[in-house]
Amino acid sequence: MFQLAYWEQRYKQGGSSGEGSVDESREWKWNIIDSYLSEVENVIDLGCGDLTFWLGRNCRQYTGIDVSETILNKNKSARPEWNFILSSSDQFIKNMKAPVVFCFDMLFHIMDEKSFIKTIDNACRYSSKYLFIYTWKKNPFSRSFALRRIFKKGNLSFIKYVFFPSKTDNRYQYFRSIDDHIDILKKNNFQLLNEYEYPDDIGCMYVLKKMN
Ligand SMILES: C[S@@+](CC[C@H](N)C(=O)[O-])C[C@H]1O[C@@H](n2cnc3c(N)ncnc32)[C@H](O)[C@@H]1O
Repeated sequence: MFQLAYWEQRYKQGGSSGEGSVDESREWKWNIIDSYLSEVENVIDLGCGDLTFWLGRNCRQYTGIDVSETILNKNKSARPEWNFILSSSDQFIKNMKAPVVFCFDMLFHIMDEKSFIKTIDNACRYSSKYLFIYTWKKNPFSRSFALRRIFKKGNLSFIKYVFFPSKTDNRYQYFRSIDDHIDILKKNNFQLLNEYEYPDDIGCMYVLKKMN
């Protein structure tokens, strides 16, 4: 449960959800979403974070789920008309259903394999139509990525992964590929409509639709 404490601590100290929900990254994600939805009006947002992603946006019916009580309290003040639930994504919440489910920049923060699988399963069960998942498609802790960071960006902080490639930073990030878990999506009757690789060569937006 370390990563749950990590986020609570981070938000308590005034930290944000991170770079994935600001500037070009946010715009890039919304462009994809807007190309599928004429209106964003009923959404379940799994691992909703600090709502920076929703800056300048509205949603008639919104439910945000997150493990951090601190950020949810802040969100409730900022968006009193929205619904927020303090829960871990691997816990199934009864009667939770919406035509659109978002799960952005959260899956790679789940350290435990079972929790990861349960989260994808729950995301499918909550959605009656669309599921948008943004997560890593490539492993940033691999040797090739570490070498690229060093030679292209002069960033030496990843040098240990050149010698000891890994799938995790053993702190709060763990690489698992959606491509290796397509069976969970198929079992829930979801079809992958499209995937969009982010220019950083790591992240990817997966757009899935429930088949009737
Ligand atoms: C990097 S932030 C992304 C926030 C938001 N989705 C966005 O794109 O701006 C990750 C969020 O996931 C939440 N989180 C991490 N593990 C979780 C879990 N197992 N269940 C629910 N929320 C979780 C954290 O508290 C944090 O707010």
